[in-house]
Amino acid sequence: MAESWVIMVTAQTPTNIAVIKYWGKRDEKLILPVNDSISVTLDPAHLCTTTTVAVSPSFAQDRMWLNGKEISLSGGRYQNCLREIRARACDVEDKERGIKISKKDWEKLHVHIASYNNFPTAAGLASSAAGFACLVFALAKLMNAKEDNSELSAIARQGSGSACRSLFGGFVKWKMGKVEDGSDSLAVQVVDEKHWDDLVIIIAVVSSRQKETSSTTGMRETVETSLLLQHRAKEIVPKRIVQMEESIKNRNFASFAHLTCADSNQFHAVCMDTCPPIFYMNDTSHRIISCVEKWNRSVGTPQVAYTFDAGPNAVLIAHNRKAAAQLLQKLLFYFPPNSDTELNSYVLGDKSILKDAGIEDLKDVEALPPPPEIKDAPRYKGDVSYFICTRPGRGPVLLSDESQALLSPETGLPK
Ligand code: DP6
Repeated sequence: MAESWVIMVTAQTPTNIAVIKYWGKRDEKLILPVNDSISVTLDPAHLCTTTTVAVSPSFAQDRMWLNGKEISLSGGRYQNCLREIRARACDVEDKERGIKISKKDWEKLHVHIASYNNFPTAAGLASSAAGFACLVFALAKLMNAKEDNSELSAIARQGSGSACRSLFGGFVKWKMGKVEDGSDSLAVQVVDEKHWDDLVIIIAVVSSRQKETSSTTGMRETVETSLLLQHRAKEIVPKRIVQMEESIKNRNFASFAHLTCADSNQFHAVCMDTCPPIFYMNDTSHRIISCVEKWNRSVGTPQVAYTFDAGPNAVLIAHNRKAAAQLLQKLLFYFPPNSDTELNSYVLGDKSILKDAGIEDLKDVEALPPPPEIKDAPRYKGDVSYFICTRPGRGPVLLSDESQALLSPETGLPK
């Protein structure tokens, strides 16, 4: 084997938001959940992870860089993903460059991994989901593993539970599975991203000074102390999963919105039922819920669904573009930006929704009328950091353009 070559692969993987939540493990090590969950994959144009993985006989150890900074790979979750993928590696040949890696070589060869999120990692937007999905997907392609995306999802699951749902686009179900080794706890696609393409998703990244309990710790404490979780996992979620799949397949927005909001609220109720109680939402989150609830009620049929993960950020799913434009007007009325913030950096992602809402600059935000469904509507300047407008999106892809690689093809180090 020549000693200086580098072979690499770059992949891009979306993040996802659960509409029926995963909360609670029956096996901590294998990351096996206490119930099924369903998510919508978000458009990678606005929220995704890009990962380049490289192999070279010149690498002395496995190394990883996240957003340009080297991080340790010694954690059990990284080690589990690396081990599981290596065990499935196959022969790889680059005839043009005269390089051949045989199946058994992979045990000795080291990899370099560079990962980048196109959204703030610390904003609480499920960066670990996109990150582990991308790591596993990219390594599987580099090592020529023959597993399909469902089989790969069972490996990504061992990095972070919610990551298994980022191996597909559209709406995705994580089946909890039954067997002890976890091999049947994997993700399957419910429908692809084209099936319900008039949905619009607006994320409100809520300003927060509070250090939140991590999902991993929070759900462990819930499993140990909450009786409500047992009721939820046994009695509530199995029925909701069936109803949710049906609503998605039939594009029944009223039922979809009802189930999504109810499940988010029950997840947060289960957090409150934990000892000591966990509070992820804050006053701003509660104000957003009340805004959506009052509007939906005043129209008579739901226009928007809301869901909140382990943090105060709101993910709002609007029925269509018209509802999304109206929603954005209401949100910008309640939560205008601070005076030193430009509209352009306050509403990110698909800016065409702003246009639909008739908002071109901050003067238009100032002039917005109060939503008619609320009397004496106050305004909460600065309580939202920014909004991201997006939509359901596709699953992982390989990026063949070398300019998008995060590692140098010569050295295998970050560019
Ligand atoms: C509230 O997947 O982050 O977002 O498996 O311990 O890594 P670990 O937890 P994680 O938990 C996500 C919880 C959630 C709900 C969901 O995504 O289903």
